[in-house]
Order: sequence, then C-alpha cells, then structure tokens
Amino acid sequence: MVTQPVVDLDGRRRSRGAALRDASAVQLRPVRIGDEPALREFVETVSADSLRRRFCGSISPAIAAASLALRLDSDDIVLLAEVPGTPSIVGHAAAYRIGPERAEVAFVIADAWQGRGLGSIMLSRLATAVGEHGVTTLTAEVLPTNQAMLTVFARSPHPVEMWTGADGVEVRIALALPASAAVAA
Ligand SMILES: CC(C)(COP(=O)(O)OP(=O)(O)OC[C@H]1O[C@@H](n2cnc3c(N)ncnc32)[C@H](O)[C@@H]1OP(=O)(O)O)[C@@H](O)C(=O)NCCC(=O)NCCS
Repeated sequence: MVTQPVVDLDGRRRSRGAALRDASAVQLRPVRIGDEPALREFVETVSADSLRRRFCGSISPAIAAASLALRLDSDDIVLLAEVPGTPSIVGHAAAYRIGPERAEVAFVIADAWQGRGLGSIMLSRLATAVGEHGVTTLTAEVLPTNQAMLTVFARSPHPVEMWTGADGVEVRIALALPASAAVAA
C-alpha cells in the first residue's frame, strides 16, 4: 500500500498536463494513497529489460511493483504520468531523499511510451519539485549501456557530471541554488 501522499508536484496537490513530442498528452501528478493497484498494472506494461534497467538488475514484476509503490519515505517525491481521462499510469519518476540536500532519482516509462520525450519532461518536473523542497543535488546510478537514460540526464539544463563507478555510471546533477542561498550569495 502507498503509505504517504509525499509532496505535491507544485505544492497545490493537483496534476499538470504535458504534451509529448508526438503531440500525445499526459498528466503529471504526485503519487497518492491508493495508487498501488494502478502501479501494479503499470509494471505489467514495462518489459523485463526496462525493469532490469530501472532496478540495475533482474527483478520480478511483483517485487518491482511493490518497490515502486512501497519504497516511500515522507521526504521522497514521486511523480506519476497518466493518460488523461484514464487511470492508466505510463511513467514513474522518483526522488529518494538521501541527505538534507540530496536525492537519488530513478525513472521508468511504459515501453510503448518511451522515446517520446516523457523521461525528459519527468526529470524536469521532478527537479523543479525537489528544488522547491531544498534539494540541491540529484544523483543516479545508471547501467553503462543505458544510453536513453544517459541522454536524458545529459540534456538536463543543470550542470551534470558523470563518471564510471563500481556499479555503473554515476550521475550528479547540480540544481540551482535555493532562492535564499542565491540572495545571500
Ligand atoms: C530511460 C527512460 C526513463 C527514458 O525515458 P524516455 O521517455 O524514453 O526518454 P526521452 O524520450 O525523453 O529521451 C530518450 C532519448 O534517448 C534516446 N535513446 C533511446 N534509446 C537509445 C539508445 N539505445 N541509444 C541511444 N539513444 C537512445 C532517444 O532516442 C531519446 O533521444 P531523442 O530525443 O534524440 O530521440 C526510459 O527509456 C525507460 O523507462 N527505460 C527503462 C527504465 C530505465 O532505464 N530507467 C533508468 C533508471 S535510472
């Protein structure tokens, strides 16, 4: 069961639309209590290979669904992409707080929706959401062969560093300083 409403996408607990490259529309919103059944259906639309890339290793769909639905602390921010007017989830973007100003991000898009720009849009919205809650650094661990994810990170408008670590490519994105720090600087 999803145990936390987590943090709103924009502090107003509502969903926001986005247009993809092929002109199809999605709604982005924070994960909510009660999303677990829809998340389980979402995982069924994700191939084993995509799940392997999301979790950096083989994982059963049941465990993947449980992880997407359950691995939430109150400081985490999870955004879902839905097909407007339906309960169908097509994207999941998570920022797991790993320090006062740091969050580890991970994404998974339904296979049929990959390559349309949704991952890039979700990174942008997630960065805005976490930035409003004091996060200044995003990190990620990506399989070296995961060119799509590396491309999405490399296109971030924020400074991005990537280096090879023990378990794959380590990514660090420096978000803009919080407004208070920028004023003080
Ligand atoms: C990685 C992922 C989140 C990206 O989301 P997406 O919606 O497909 O991303 P976008 O459409 O915004 O951009 C992907 C870019 O990578 C490119 N790309 C995709 N596969 C590629 C490949 N094998 N080699 C090179 N580029 C590739 C796409 O063409 C696109 O570039 P373009 O805009 O020039 O066409 C999505 O593909 C996914 O869910 N993958 C499986 C899970 C995963 O890998 N998660 C990452 C864990 S951190």
